[in-house]
Order: sequence, then C-alpha cells, then structure tokens
Amino acid sequence: MAKQSLPLSQVYRLIEPGPVVLVSTMSGEQANIMTMSWHMMIEFEPPTLACVISAGDYTFDILKKTKECVINIPTVELAKKVVGCGNTSGRDLDKFKKFGLTPSAAACVRAPLIDECYANLECNVIDSKLAAKYNIFICEVVKAWIDRTQENPRTIHHQGNGKFVVDGETIKLPSRMK
Ligand SMILES: Cc1cc2nc3c(=O)[nH]c(=O)nc-3n(C[C@H](O)[C@H](O)[C@H](O)COP(=O)(O)O)c2cc1C
Repeated sequence: MAKQSLPLSQVYRLIEPGPVVLVSTMSGEQANIMTMSWHMMIEFEPPTLACVISAGDYTFDILKKTKECVINIPTVELAKKVVGCGNTSGRDLDKFKKFGLTPSAAACVRAPLIDECYANLECNVIDSKLAAKYNIFICEVVKAWIDRTQENPRTIHHQGNGKFVVDGETIKLPSRMK
C-alpha cells in the first residue's frame, strides 16, 4: 500500500466542506466580519446550520451577546479579502474599512449584509449550549438573499494552509435528495 500516515492535525483538510463564508455581526454600533469554513447544514426548513467559531475570536463574544449574524457567501473574486478577514481581528480594526467591503442593512437582524457577496443569510443563534464545549453555535436562517445576475458564482473551499479549491465543473445525476 502506497499510503502514508497523515498527521491528525491535517485530517480537517480532507473533510473541509466549504464554501468559505464571511460571518458578519454587530456589537453596539461596531460591525465585524470573520472568515469561517467549519459549518454544516442540519435542517432544510427553517434552514439551520451549525457553525464552529473559536472562543478566542471576537465574533464568539459578539454572538454570545447579540445572538445574531449574517452568513455571507463570497465568490473567488473576493478570495484575498476573505483571507484578510480570517487573519485579523475586529478587536483591532474595522474590517469593512480595511478590506473595502460594503455593509448594508439586513431585514431581520442588526448585523449587516456584505454587499459584495453574492448571497447573504440573516441568522438568529437559536442554541449556543454547545459553544462552551465545542465552540458550536446553531443558527437559523430567517431571511435569505441572492444575486441572480451572477450565473455561475464560483465559491471557494479551504484545503488548509492558504490553499483553496475553486468551484468548477458541475455534473447532474438523478437523486432523491432535494
Ligand atoms: C480560510 C479560513 C477559514 C477559517 N475558518 C474558521 C472557522 O471555521 N472557525 C473559526 O473559528 N475560525 C476560522 N478562521 C479563523 C478566523 O476567521 C480568525 O480567527 C479571525 O481572525 C476571527 O476574527 P474576529 O476576531 O474578528 O472574530 C478561518 C480563517 C481562514 C483564513
């Protein structure tokens, strides 16, 4: 067998689901953005997601306090800004200003939408019981927006260490999954 042992610290690189998203929040009058790739869908309707947000992140503190966020879905054109938002903390700077991103008012939450992203999901945190042990927040999408003029939005998927796969070829097969 030609396979080699893989360091356990790199297992996540095989399972990374993506797309990489930007989580925007609002604390008082200060808006913030963080980059997140560890998330999963857990229900169709209402759409419900689990998000892993480290306790050290400023976003963790804001989510515990406000219980609201927007999950913004960027395309490859925004990749450098996405990495920038993941390498800096809102404790130290205004990421909307620093990375030239545009906040706009959401319909149901105080956290802003990021205009440049092709889709935005306004969310309420409905359960943060798992945050203490696993840094997991359960978020329910209460309003969703999409830019349908973007015919082929190419999202990015993190493979670790600054490497990303960009959405490409699509195949269509008969499937009972909606
Ligand atoms: C590609 C990428 C993916 C990331 N995914 C996550 C993630 O899923 N969960 C997490 O807690 N941090 C993740 N991070 C790190 C946070 O974005 C980073 O700690 C950020 O500085 C937090 O910002 P804040 O302190 O303003 O909340 C990721 C960073 C990058 C570059």
